[in-house]
Amino acid sequence: MYYSELIKNAENRKDKVYELIFIIYLPTMIQYALNGKNLQGDILPLPSINPNHMNLFSIVGIIIVQVALVCYSIAIISEQRKRIVSRKVLSFLIMGVVFDITATTFMILGTSQGAFTLHGILGYSSLAGMVADAIIIYQFHRKNSPGTLVSRPVHIYSLIAYLWWIAAYITGGLLVALRHS
Ligand code: HEM
Repeated sequence: MYYSELIKNAENRKDKVYELIFIIYLPTMIQYALNGKNLQGDILPLPSINPNHMNLFSIVGIIIVQVALVCYSIAIISEQRKRIVSRKVLSFLIMGVVFDITATTFMILGTSQGAFTLHGILGYSSLAGMVADAIIIYQFHRKNSPGTLVSRPVHIYSLIAYLWWIAAYITGGLLVALRHS
């Protein structure tokens, strides 16, 4: 057999092994991430892909909350700098609220603690603050012509709601990190 054929065969064998690993281990990994157990029980013990046994819903929630952070930051920083409610401010704020609600829903689905914990209460209150901000900013956008300077109370409320959300985000991350350490 030529050397090249040998290599080809070896690669085929490697592919088969990968295929087998994929077929057997992928569902196991998903199951493991979901509830910290593997499908085959003790037959196929697998090191956890998730050392803290964090639920898959929580992981998805954590990923989505980062998107909410980016959207809120773009909206609020833009409003604070120019002091006008542009379409950019409004759309990023609304997207932030949508991602925030989605992330919170996933975190509730993934929680092992029940929905009313310190982290949960901080999260709900900051989400409520941002929903109120989005409504206020939307009303302002609807009632005023483009380019109108945002009134002082709305300007200050936006900043406070955003800073409260950031505080809840940081403490939320910390609280959960400590809980899972
Ligand atoms: C302001 C943004 C956030 C909101 C609105 C929020 C909301 C929630 C809610 C309502 C729960 C269910 C109650 C609980 O288990 O305590 C929860 C759980 C959770 N959150 Fe958040 N959260 C936020 C930020 C974060 C961040 C930044 C992280 C991590 C980096 C995080 C990670 C988690 C995890 C892992 C759980 C499940 C906790 C467990 O079962 O031990 N959250 N979140």
